[in-house]
Order: sequence, then C-alpha cells, then structure tokens
Amino acid sequence: MNFNITTEKRADIKADLEIILVIDKAFKHPFVQDKKLLKKAGFSGAQDEVCHLIEKNRLYVGAETLKGVGVRSALATALRSLLGKKAYKTIKIGTYLSHPRCSASLRASVEGIVLGAYTFNRYKSKKTKCYVKSVQISLEGYNAHELSMETAVRAVHNGEISANATNFTRNIVNTTPDDCYPEIMANIAESLTKNSKLKCKILKPKALRKEKMETLLAVARASRHKPRVIHLTHKPKNPVAVISLVGKGLTYDSGGLSLKPADYMVTMKSDKSGGAAVLGIMKAVCEMDLPIEVHGFVGAVENMIGGDAYKPDDVLTAKNGKTIEIRNTDAEGRLVLADTLCYAQQEVKADYLFDFATLTGASVVGVGHYTSSVMGNADEPKEMVTKMATQAGEFATTLDFNRHLKKTIKSEIADVCNISNTRYGGAITAGQFLSEFIDEDHKDKWAHIDIAGPAFVEHAWAENPHGASGAGVRMMIRLIEKMVRSKGTH
Ligand code: BES
Ligand code: ZN
Ligand code: ZN
Repeated sequence: MNFNITTEKRADIKADLEIILVIDKAFKHPFVQDKKLLKKAGFSGAQDEVCHLIEKNRLYVGAETLKGVGVRSALATALRSLLGKKAYKTIKIGTYLSHPRCSASLRASVEGIVLGAYTFNRYKSKKTKCYVKSVQISLEGYNAHELSMETAVRAVHNGEISANATNFTRNIVNTTPDDCYPEIMANIAESLTKNSKLKCKILKPKALRKEKMETLLAVARASRHKPRVIHLTHKPKNPVAVISLVGKGLTYDSGGLSLKPADYMVTMKSDKSGGAAVLGIMKAVCEMDLPIEVHGFVGAVENMIGGDAYKPDDVLTAKNGKTIEIRNTDAEGRLVLADTLCYAQQEVKADYLFDFATLTGASVVGVGHYTSSVMGNADEPKEMVTKMATQAGEFATTLDFNRHLKKTIKSEIADVCNISNTRYGGAITAGQFLSEFIDEDHKDKWAHIDIAGPAFVEHAWAENPHGASGAGVRMMIRLIEKMVRSKGTH
C-alpha cells in the first residue's frame, strides 16, 4: 500500500472512494455532505459503524473521538469492509487531528488503514485480499488544527512502519505449529538482517548446553523440533540508551506431560506471540533507525509429550544456578524465559529490560481479553509501559507484586517451584517467579508484560481481526521512540 500526502483539497483529488469519519452525531460538519442519505440509511455514527454510499463513492464511519484510539479503530473497520472489493484501488481521506500541531491522530489513521487491510490467507484456497493500493491523504483538516508537511510525512512514515511491523508479527503468530517451529522462527529473525543493519546470532542446542540453559533445553526435549535462542541487535552510532527485549517463543504449548485439556490446547500456536512481538519491534526499530541500542532475545521452543519429556517432580538448574522444582510442565513459559532472561542479562547490561509473554491464563481471568498485565519491582519501567501502551492504542495495566504471594512459590526441595501453591493470583506469582532470574543490576530496570489476553483474538475488536493481534508491538515502538525524545533532550 502506497501513501501520498498532498495539500490539494479532498474534492480535487481523484480516487475510487473517499472515507469520511463522522465524529459529530448531528452530521453538521462540512465533511459530511450526505446528511439526508445517512439518516435514511439509519446510520447513527456510533464508533466503528460503517455506511457505504456506493453511488456517491463515499464511505462514512463513526468515531467517538478524534483521538488516536477512535480514529485507528474506525479506519481499520472501514478498510475491513472493503476487503475483497476490486472496485476500490485508490482511496482518499482528510486529516483528522485531536490537538493543534499534534500528529498522533494522523499516525493512528495510517495505522488503522494498514491494520484494517490485513488478511491472513495462507491456508485458504480462495483468498480474500485488500485491493486498495494507494491512499491519498489531503492536509485539508477536519478542524482548524494544522500540520506542516514535514510533520505529516514523519507521522505517516512512522505509522506505516509500526502497523507493518504489527502485521509482520501477526503473520508469524497465525502460522501453524507445523509451519512455524523454532528453526523457522530463527530463519525469520535471520531474514530481517537482509538489506538492513540488524545483526543476528542464533544459538542451537550445542551452544545452549555450553551456556548452561538446561531449563530451556528440558522444556524442548520431547519435541522433534530442536530449540533456538535468537539474539537480534540494532546498534546505532552514539545510542542514547540500551534496551533489551526478551520474548516467549513457544511455537506450540501442548502443556507437556501436564497435558492441556483439548479445548485449552486449541490456539496454543499463539504461545509464540511474545517472541514474535520482539521480532516485529526489532524490524520497526531498525526501519525507523532509532538512536537507541536495542537487543531482541527470543527463546523459541516447542512443549510436547513423549518418552523423553521433562516431568513433574524433576528438579532443573537454571542458567544462573538456581534450582527449580517442576510441579506442572504446563508452566513452561517461565522456565524458557528464566534461561533466556539470564542469557540476555549476561550478554547486555541494559538501561531497561522488558519481557513479553503469553504467560498465564490467570492474566486473562484477571484483566480480560483486551488488556496486558505489567509487572516488576520498580514503578518507572512499569509506568513507561502502561503510559505508552495507551498512546499506542493498546490496553495495559499494572499488577503489584507482594511478599505474601512470593511465599507461595517456595519449594521444600529446591530453590523455587515453577507453580504456586494457591489457585489465586497466578499472573503475579508467575511474574514473581521470573523476578528470581533478574540480577541485581537489572532489578529496577525490568518490566514483565503478560500479553496472554490480547495476543490472540477470538472475536474481532477495534483494529484487531480474528487471530493474532500483534499485541506489544505498537506499545513498545512508542516507548522506544519516546525514550529517544526524553534522553535526547537531557
Ligand atoms: N501458554 C500458557 C498460558 C496461556 C493461557 C496463554 C491461555 C494464552 C491463553 C502457559 O504456558 C500456561 O499453560 N500457563 C498455565 C500455568 C499454570 C499451570 C500454573 C496456566 O495459565 O494455566
Ligand atoms: Zn503452558
Ligand atoms: Zn505457554
């Protein structure tokens, strides 16, 4: 899809269709030229309600607010309504801004269009695709707020990069476990280094043994697909900060010997969402050429059953020497992350360390399908994540650690147990388990983001169709961009 920004008025631009956002429910705004027809069609202008006036070549869509969250969702829904329609190859829109000189809503418009045009057709004989090839954005503003061409160009460019990175992550997550196993994830990571400045190192089993990542290797043991640890590096000259990202890349989670019930196993191809998000973020950071050194680590493993499977009752030793009593092989993500986090901290002394994981069903129970849970020892990194998530149009909320829950992962026979002795607070106890593998240097620089809720969508919502959402990608790109601005001015 090709975006073009112009100072031409909307009416003067040639296109197959104009998309018009309806914010004012009285239809009084001059952009809304078809008040009577809209009323006749029963259009109310509610958020994401679409009314296509075919003969007028206009598509109206409701938005509750001019802020990014309203605009992104509305335009994604509008684009989704055009999927499979060959008549619409070029579209035009005006510029919708919520505040003077603030380009956030323009960026959100572009993100909405790119995210709404997304389809995943790999396994369909009959492919439904988006035929829109060109988008003309007129700088003619919906209100008096103006934007310079330079600011608009940057907003559109960054919007395209962050939405394309989200779609890239969605593709990885939507791919079936037989087509995307650890070796394939490593190949995808390596392919990111072609025509880019990203560097990639892949650790295979021999190297993983040398690095003493026995816990990760134990989870991987019963699978015919051997594990990989991926390390991608974006290293600009004179970086203003160093960030490490770590992702859970369970290409399939059957539960292992603590086998999941049939209904719970379906969708577990999405257990690689954290790792896939890290790959998407690295792609975007490199494309934006941000002056921050960013390292992306992914623990790519398949959790299966078999004669060689790791077992409840095993005691494993993690890379940092801590021993772990296994009482449930379905709590495998934290084991893979334990070793990958230790490796990441050994390789890079970072200013901030973030991990992304579809770690617990408890997070979904606690905060719902739309929201990520953010945990850690210190407020600063957690607050950065929740704040930037909101700006990026994602939901994220903090869950506080406490010393009482910490006691529930104590083990009688090892240093720590991989599950809690209580049924409640499972997202937090998983986070507190991970904190056992964060060293003194990174203690207050780390935040854990449990994306189990939003990573995979069963019923489409906002800009997310059925399937992978790319959760975590846009929030972290925003956070890294923000860090460039705040550190750069110090
Ligand atoms: N991958 C799952 C968590 C999950 C559940 C992600 C639902 C997305 C949707 C994880 O490995 C897991 O199985 N966790 C267990 C932990 C339990 C055994 C302590 C869970 O949440 O039930
Ligand atoms: Zn599991
Ligand atoms: Zn899992």
